[in-house]
Amino acid sequence: MRRAAASLLRYSAQLAHQHAASTSTAVQAAACAGSSRWFATNSHDIFNTHRHEAHNNWDTEFDFTDANYEKVAEIMSRYPTNYKASAVIPLLDLAQQQNDGWLSLAAMNRVAKILDMAEIRVYEVATFYTMFNRSKIGKYHVMVCGTTPCMLQGAKGIYKALKEHLGIDYGQTTPDGMFTLGEMECMGACVNAPMIAIADYTKGVEGFSYNYYEDLTPEDTIKIVDTLKKGGKPKVGSQHRSKAEPAGAVINGNMAASISLSEAAAQLRADLELLDASSKEAAALLDHAAWSLGQLDRQVAPMTARTAPLARARVNIQAAKASSEEVLDHLDASRKLQGTIQAGPRGANLEPFLAALQRLEAAIDFLQAHRSMQSAEDALRHTTALQNSALAACAAEFGVLLRKHAAIPEALLARLRSAAEARSGGRAAVGSSTGTADAAAPAPLDLLPQAALASLRPLAAAMLGSGGSSSDGGRSCVRLYVEARSGVLRSALSSLLSPLSSVVASAGSSKDGTAQLTWQHVETRIPGWVAALRLFVRLAQEEARLCTAVFPAPEQAAVLSQVAAGGAAPLLEAADAVLAVRRVPEKLFGCLDMHDATEAALGPLQALAVGGSRLEHRSMGMDRPALVRQLAQLRGRLVAEARSCFSELQDALPRDAAKGVPGDGTVHPLCATCVALLKRTLGYKAALPVLFGEAAGSTAARGAGGLAAEAQMLDRMAAAVGHTLDGLLSALDTKARATYKQRALAVLHQLNNLAYLCHALEGSKELRAVGEAWLEQHQGQVEQQRQAFIEAAWGPLLALLRQDARQAVPANLQSDKAARQAIKDKWTAVNKALGEAQAQQGWAVPDAGLRFALKDAVGEVLLPAYEAFFNKYSGKPYTSDHRKHERHSPADVQALVGDLYEGADGAGAGSLVGRSPSKSPGSMSGGSLARRLSGRGFTP
Ligand code: FES
Repeated sequence: MRRAAASLLRYSAQLAHQHAASTSTAVQAAACAGSSRWFATNSHDIFNTHRHEAHNNWDTEFDFTDANYEKVAEIMSRYPTNYKASAVIPLLDLAQQQNDGWLSLAAMNRVAKILDMAEIRVYEVATFYTMFNRSKIGKYHVMVCGTTPCMLQGAKGIYKALKEHLGIDYGQTTPDGMFTLGEMECMGACVNAPMIAIADYTKGVEGFSYNYYEDLTPEDTIKIVDTLKKGGKPKVGSQHRSKAEPAGAVINGNMAASISLSEAAAQLRADLELLDASSKEAAALLDHAAWSLGQLDRQVAPMTARTAPLARARVNIQAAKASSEEVLDHLDASRKLQGTIQAGPRGANLEPFLAALQRLEAAIDFLQAHRSMQSAEDALRHTTALQNSALAACAAEFGVLLRKHAAIPEALLARLRSAAEARSGGRAAVGSSTGTADAAAPAPLDLLPQAALASLRPLAAAMLGSGGSSSDGGRSCVRLYVEARSGVLRSALSSLLSPLSSVVASAGSSKDGTAQLTWQHVETRIPGWVAALRLFVRLAQEEARLCTAVFPAPEQAAVLSQVAAGGAAPLLEAADAVLAVRRVPEKLFGCLDMHDATEAALGPLQALAVGGSRLEHRSMGMDRPALVRQLAQLRGRLVAEARSCFSELQDALPRDAAKGVPGDGTVHPLCATCVALLKRTLGYKAALPVLFGEAAGSTAARGAGGLAAEAQMLDRMAAAVGHTLDGLLSALDTKARATYKQRALAVLHQLNNLAYLCHALEGSKELRAVGEAWLEQHQGQVEQQRQAFIEAAWGPLLALLRQDARQAVPANLQSDKAARQAIKDKWTAVNKALGEAQAQQGWAVPDAGLRFALKDAVGEVLLPAYEAFFNKYSGKPYTSDHRKHERHSPADVQALVGDLYEGADGAGAGSLVGRSPSKSPGSMSGGSLARRLSGRGFTP
């Protein structure tokens, strides 16, 4: 019994397999018959795949009828509003019923819209469930159950009967549009198998029916469809029984009303035997197939054994062939590439030329590694020669391109030069230099056009890449580039540097010759050097950009370092010459100008970075120190020289003071010169750290090392200023005492000098900031000096008048000859003193305030005393000729006082600084600092 059941199952599986195969074949045939490209896996897919047709496309419309909209509302009311998509299947079913049994695109879209669903979601449902038809079908959709129980009970006969009677196969519709034949899986009516289901779409939604017809024989089936065709109503359900019951069944396509147990058993036995026979036949077939496969395997084995070595040999031959082709290719490389190399690397040929060069290098590598090969040596020699020739051509083209663009366009150069000169032009700009050479990347100057860069870069890469293959290790491009670009820099700087360079050159190249230069030769050329340095910085920034564009990263820093060093050489040489010039006080300002420019240049140059390295870092194998280090050293030397010049200045002022004094006692010109020099010195922002920092060139010297350091520097500067002023006053005083015959004039000169310096410090923000203490100390001395002068100039006369005032006029003058003579002697002395005092009218006090103060002071004490003296003796009988003795009336004396200290030409009231040296009793000529600086912006 168990064996019989197993046979039955195997039979069932075979039938199912056969059915599936036949169905699939039918479907594929149907699919291929269509003009559209589509696929199906079972009969229902014919209905589930969309095809644009006249009655089913984007423009087709569909909407539910009003009556059906009521049904829609009723259906949707079954579900929560937030789950209304759950109504998709019932609504699709309703739409299909309304739409004659199929779902158009428009119908699905309408359902999607009603349910707020994405259209694709509705398509997914409609194409998943087989009860939905996506293509137009007949009015009656006849579906045959094809599942195992129905198949066992004769479903295949039912299908065959329908196919022949209606003239259609699965998935097809009768020409009159009445029937469409379809297949279904088990519909749960197996007990009454075989069966079919028919969907009736002839009466819309209201009349729609979906009925099962069971216990079918082929004849029953034909009768059913015929009845439907005629508009009749065939019997629904079992065609032969009143319900599902064991009695009766369709046997061999005929309905047996009832069978006995023995008949059923006989039937079962017959079925089992049939299954057994089928399984035996299948087993025999499988055994035969296994035997055939074994035979085939045995026949193929020797062939496999023979073909394996052949396959290996073929691989080896192919490898050998490729290898020999490579060898021949390398051996023949020089001949093949000779034409390309000879054409040179110019213009459009650059790319193929460089490719050929690369190919040559590969060939050389190969040939060197395979020297033992026949002909390898010859080939290597030819190839190497051709490579050298190619590298020489690269170098030539590289040089041509560089030379072609070696001159900066004149208009651009003039603009750059003007910009550099504008920043250095004028004393204020020089003195207030703040190092405006920007560290930020400036705009490109395009000194090498893009087209040239596009050729230079691959040429440089090719030459450097040749490395040890070329005689110079590929360095010729670096040498050519450094020569060309440093030449461009030197040429650009030449017009600014030439005034200085030419005067240096004319002095001779030897150290002695340079030492013969005087500062007067060099001084006016310093702004040119400063402008040249600024122009150099601007161009060096451009050169950094060009180095980056031309050379690979590992080379960039080295190349830029050499270009910059070569370009800056004339600047450094000129600076050396300036430093070697004999030291004079005014050289201080040239050193400060150059120091400021150097300081300003260092920032941008230190910031220049190419190829991952900064310009300052290394000299890249050169003997000379790196440019940044050279400039830093120059800055230190300039600081040292500036300090020496300042010391020289402090020494020169007293030295010059010993050479003469002005004749009228006015302010010595050196006072004005001293003030102008100090003011100009303090006008430099860098003066404080440069002259009074901790050490020349040190960080403390160059920048503010904190408030304490700055305060310390200010103290040093104040001490230096005080020392300079005191030294000058002292020297002038000494000279005045030795030179002036009248002590009063020497005192007046001292007074004038002191008052002038105090006044200058009071009126100068820069000087007052560092000279406050000195001013406080010396302002009081002005009054003391004024009193001293009045005493020296008027003391004797005032003493005489005061002494006389204490004596009464003798009563008997007419008889007292001695008394009369005494009075006459007094008049003689007074007249002599007043006569001498008239010389003071030629003395000069240029400070108007001081001049009036002096006059007031003299008048205050002299006029009352003289008037009393005059009135005391006027009309007294001490003489018969009063006019002879009483020469000056009080009014005359008052006029005399009013004209005092105006100077011989009245200039004392108009100029703070005194008289022409020609009026001086001592020598004012011959190399004085004041005379040298006169007219060069140093006079107040
Ligand atoms: S197999 Fe046909 S209804 Fe079950």
